[in-house]
Amino acid sequence: MKTRVFSGMQPSGNLHIGNYLGALKNWVRIQHDYECIFCIVDLHAVTLYQHPSELRSKIREIAALYLAAGIDPRVSAVMVQSSVAAHAELAWMLTCVTPVGWLERMTQYKAKAAKQESVGDGILQYPVLMAADILLYQAGIVPVGDDQAQHLELTRDIALRFNSLYGETFVVPSTSLPTVGARIMGLDDPEQKMSKSASGANHAVALLDPPDRIRKTIMRATTDSQPCVQFETAGPGVLNLLSIYQAFSGWDDGQIRQHFEGMRYGDLKKQVAEMVVSQLAPFRERYQQIVGEPGYLDRVLHEGAERVAPIAQETVRLVKERMGLYS
Ligand code: TYM
Repeated sequence: MKTRVFSGMQPSGNLHIGNYLGALKNWVRIQHDYECIFCIVDLHAVTLYQHPSELRSKIREIAALYLAAGIDPRVSAVMVQSSVAAHAELAWMLTCVTPVGWLERMTQYKAKAAKQESVGDGILQYPVLMAADILLYQAGIVPVGDDQAQHLELTRDIALRFNSLYGETFVVPSTSLPTVGARIMGLDDPEQKMSKSASGANHAVALLDPPDRIRKTIMRATTDSQPCVQFETAGPGVLNLLSIYQAFSGWDDGQIRQHFEGMRYGDLKKQVAEMVVSQLAPFRERYQQIVGEPGYLDRVLHEGAERVAPIAQETVRLVKERMGLYS
């Protein structure tokens, strides 16, 4: 039997090249080697207020982008988290074995909580729901970007704790990070990771940005005070541009070094921009085809949920039995 893979993205903000290089690109690459489930995690998105009609359309946009990037729904299950109620059900059971101290230590929780006057309980519980997503399907591998590594550690801790309290129940998953592109930084501020929720106009390249917008954003990227690429002393902005080029091109370190050493920043940016424009062009085209076909997306999401529901139900049945709950 093939190892199961689970991963997901929040339908909040616009998917950007960080989401693609950190996660989605890997999903497309491995989908034929594993039994994959790719989820749109709408229950995670509502840990912060989302306008209902915007959320509804974002869910469909993200699903269409998965497909436009190359996820094949005949091979992988593509589904929406809230369409399988067992995600929320298992999350409660896992909440009951998770110490609050573990959750309060999460860096994403601390960063989000610091921005709010009143911190919603969902923000604290967020990683427990994420653990439920993964453990519900007994996934062995979770391909994500670097910013999710701590949540994956916690998922493992929760699984181990449950297994030791109630007996072997969950597969303990491992994290799969890409070798290049695991942490793409903001183009306007290379000290901050590229983020869907950041507001700056030149912060990110979104997957559906038109070519002119992509070129503008990359040409305005923050570099440093040197005139040209010097690998020994390159600052974070230059290294970020080089990683973007490397992740899209698939070149190895030696090829990147040979090609870019000594290149003026203006030329570096032009080459990165053209690489990104050419790699994203087919996404926009396929995206339009997918959303233009009436009923197609709903069919994919419905079939995805139907395909995974029996796996989820079996895990919930097992967990209830292990915990002594009534069923
Ligand atoms: P989300 O929606 O923030 O991000 C989706 C994926 O994109 C990766 N990513 C990045 N990779 C490289 N550079 C960046 N700047 C960058 N920004 C984001 C993320 O690491 C992620 O892989 N909690 C998750 C969603 C989730 C999930 C899950 C993931 C819910 N349940 C179960 C895996 C398994 C999140 O908010 O991702």
